[in-house]
Amino acid sequence: MQTAGDIARAVEVLRGGGLVALPTETVYGLGADAQNELAARRIFAVKGRPSTHPLIVHVASLEDARAWVAEVPPEGELLARAFWPGPLTLVLRRSALASDTVTGGQDTVAIRVPAHEVALKLLRAFDGGIAAPSANRFGKVSPTTAQHVREELGEDVDFILDAGPSQVGVESTIVDVTGAAPRLLRPGGLAREALEEALGRPLALATQVADVRAPGMLESHYAPRAGLWLVDAPRLAAEASRRLDEGVRVVVLAPASAVAPAAVIRLDVPEDATGFAQVLYARLREADRLGEVILAVPPPESGLGLAVRDRLARAAAPRR
Ligand code: TXA
Ligand code: MG
Repeated sequence: MQTAGDIARAVEVLRGGGLVALPTETVYGLGADAQNELAARRIFAVKGRPSTHPLIVHVASLEDARAWVAEVPPEGELLARAFWPGPLTLVLRRSALASDTVTGGQDTVAIRVPAHEVALKLLRAFDGGIAAPSANRFGKVSPTTAQHVREELGEDVDFILDAGPSQVGVESTIVDVTGAAPRLLRPGGLAREALEEALGRPLALATQVADVRAPGMLESHYAPRAGLWLVDAPRLAAEASRRLDEGVRVVVLAPASAVAPAAVIRLDVPEDATGFAQVLYARLREADRLGEVILAVPPPESGLGLAVRDRLARAAAPRR
């Protein structure tokens, strides 16, 4: 776990333009000094991420966020006060501090205050914004442990702050508050219901994939190597038998209550969506190691179920 020395070392690496993998409550991030152009560019190089896909700037507080944005509109202010620190990213009009590299050349910037003690300590000690996407290669499953980061990025990351597994397990919920009505750009670790209750009105949904520059919005993303199919619990037994008959190794990712033939490899997930979200990416990695075909039973849509279903659907989408 962390020592004061680890935070000091991470700050030093950031100040020197290096990359630090940092724990957050959602997933591990690949962080760089958001004001250092070359460092921010290295994130794109290491991830293999197209330069048009903007980064999230992490800050320690709403007050620190203000320097990065032109304004915080009333509903942005309301959401920030209600949910920061937390798994919520707000898209706001940018200030001059937010570079084209960070924003992908857009006039908006994505900001979040993570609810993680180590991330907040780092942000306060660094005393600046940290640009950080999830610490995985572009299009791959996000890391929820430091070990995932090590396995995937190896020498490409200069320092890793290890604080154990991420508590939430899926990325932050992204809400664009620059328009007439707040829009949900990506379902995530903060439930849509909680946002709508705070706002007192329904969130508009981003349906026009093409108008959002978000890699999380691309069809195939969060993808394991093995083929993944979504199957509702009542159809699971028949579908699993059919795939087993083809002679492939079948992994079933489902709550223990879902019935499947004994010949499949079972990876249990909690019955509730919050628990499912927590283990989702670790299970996908494991399923990928163990099987050729993954059959996943998605949770209901409520709460974090929306985000889990979204990530599973993307993992199941045809590969580019
Ligand atoms: O939970 C999280 O959000 C994690 C942790 C590390 O904070 N980060 C994360 O980053 O998921 P990344 O890069 O994997 O996803 C960031 C998302 C992308 O879909 C990106 O396109 C979107 O945020 N985004 C960033 N700036 C944006 C902007 N100005 N407008 C719309 N979408 C934006
Ligand atoms: Mg990502």
